[in-house]
Amino acid sequence: MKTDKITPVQTPLTTNKHLIRWVEKMADLCQPAGIHWIDGSEAENDWLCQKLVDGGTFTRLNEELWPGCFYARSAPNDVARVEDRTFICSLSKDNAGPTNNWQDPFVMRRKLKQIFKGSMRGRTMYVLPFSMGPIGSPMSQIGVQLTDSAYAVVNMRIMARIGKAVFAEIDKDVKRVVPCLHSVGAPLAPGQQDVPWPCNDEKYIVHFPETREIWSYGSGYGGNALLGKKCFALRIASNIARDEGWMAEHMLIVGVESPTHEKTYVAAAFPSACGKTNFAMMIPPAGFEGWKVWTVGDDIAWIKPDATGQLRAINPEAGFFGVAPGTSAKTNPNAMATLAKNTIFTNVALTPEGGVWWEGMTDTPPALCLDWRGETWTPEIGKITGRPAAHPNGRFTAPASQCPTMDEAWEAPDGVPISAFIFGGRRPTTMPLVYQAFNWSSGVYIGATMGSETTAAAGGALGKVRRDPMAMLPFCGYHMGDYFRHWLRMQRDLTATPRVFHVNWFRKDAEGKFLWPGYSENMRVLKWIVDRVRGRALGKETPIGWTPHFDDINWKGLEFPRATFETLQTVDRAQWKQEVMGHEELFLALHDHLPAEMIYERELLICRL
Ligand code: GTP
Ligand code: SPV
Ligand code: MN
Repeated sequence: MKTDKITPVQTPLTTNKHLIRWVEKMADLCQPAGIHWIDGSEAENDWLCQKLVDGGTFTRLNEELWPGCFYARSAPNDVARVEDRTFICSLSKDNAGPTNNWQDPFVMRRKLKQIFKGSMRGRTMYVLPFSMGPIGSPMSQIGVQLTDSAYAVVNMRIMARIGKAVFAEIDKDVKRVVPCLHSVGAPLAPGQQDVPWPCNDEKYIVHFPETREIWSYGSGYGGNALLGKKCFALRIASNIARDEGWMAEHMLIVGVESPTHEKTYVAAAFPSACGKTNFAMMIPPAGFEGWKVWTVGDDIAWIKPDATGQLRAINPEAGFFGVAPGTSAKTNPNAMATLAKNTIFTNVALTPEGGVWWEGMTDTPPALCLDWRGETWTPEIGKITGRPAAHPNGRFTAPASQCPTMDEAWEAPDGVPISAFIFGGRRPTTMPLVYQAFNWSSGVYIGATMGSETTAAAGGALGKVRRDPMAMLPFCGYHMGDYFRHWLRMQRDLTATPRVFHVNWFRKDAEGKFLWPGYSENMRVLKWIVDRVRGRALGKETPIGWTPHFDDINWKGLEFPRATFETLQTVDRAQWKQEVMGHEELFLALHDHLPAEMIYERELLICRL
């Protein structure tokens, strides 16, 4: 490797005076040891990865088993998004709404200037330009992340389009650039030895919606540090989208191809760690010969009506930041193929031969490995301590281009046409396997009142059902009530309204076992959805929406008892009364911004029940 040829680049790679001035100002504030303008080249990436290896952040994996792959372990207090440290600092508190943490932007700015002061001492400040969406696409947006984390840079290189080509876009001076400042908040005194994962106990993930700025402090992990992802592509972009008449959603996008090569694109919103990546890479099961599921995106969708009134969606990302535990050749072979090379693994287990492992990857765990904390782990130790080898939110960062099922249009500048929206969460009870909304407004209600059990993707208690409207609770950058209104209004610009569905892969029996096999078998539900969209599948009317009869589902290749299906599809009136109370609780919190349609829909639902 010719890594010695690279030295930090102090001369700007842009001619944009605003950008240069902002970089200088932020460097004055953070006082880094040097500034490096990221060109995005492979040589630069090799150099950064080697630096991370030398500093102990990265372990190079066995080149034969895992070519081009690296392994990282975070600090134990920096393993997931921190929702209670995430702030939406709009000018008025009312605009952030009760579901976001709000602080006065002037007070917050003063606080941030204090904590960022000298925060990059002893470190390099990287100037990382990135495009969310294909460079040059009319739907793309541009940001520049200043960061003192080389780990963030090499992850962002996989997750977004970065480097010289983006600077060239910025120099055209047509698109507004979103400034993103990021520091791990661990300045180094002269001569002080660095740690493998610098971060700070105090974390601030701050968004200024009006000025479209992001300031992130104290964390190096995932959504806290890869600022193009949740901070920009959802929290800031949801604000831009509302103002400009489009949608920024926490959704996967897939194209479903039938045996006659008819292609139907659908987008699905499931909360964090509730199955988007798995669904986005689905391989149809036996009995679905000729059917194919093509991947467009696995986490975020930007959706806009085109000139004809058809919704079109792009995936603003270029990679997958996927949950590792549970990913296997059986559950998600496409993900396994995607992460086989050029991938960064964080907080999984490291095997003695220089490979990685996580719970669910293989049936038999390795006899010996180092767990995500770097401690010796054997199946025996795991049993005694109850500690998994991989953190439940351990992740892989892998290039989308390596996924065998990427859709031919996944980088199409104008996106793909969306025919259906699917909502779904982790619901051990109440919610049937699948049902269809009666119309757009009842569909918006279904999305708005969605609930799901909390997962390890964010800090906090696990397994509690909470309302997570459209899977956007942690990601909507403005008042949730206004967000519902925006959804309702979107229909006015459409000539073809997408059909809306709700699914639940996670209903359990009395013993706490999943009633539905999930994964590949979800194709059976997806086919019914596509057939409904195409107007050729039957269903029956229930108080909550349209549901399939047992015989409306293709069961070829699977012995699935009719009785279990009936249990899965049960709409229990007592449980639904509880459910509607939950909706009411959310609506009370949002009442002063809640669109009247939501109240009418709730009344209608109660009447039908
Ligand atoms: P984020 O990246 O956090 O947004 O998560 P995601 O929505 O992409 O979730 P992902 O596909 O990574 O799945 C999260 C967890 O749910 C994994 O442990 C999966 O094994 C599990 N899972 C996914 N699909 C299914 C399913 O159909 N049934 C069951 N029972 N589990 C599933
Ligand atoms: C999620 O939590 O929904 C993720 C992971 O996709 S993160 O990038 O950390 O937000
Ligand atoms: Mn996500």
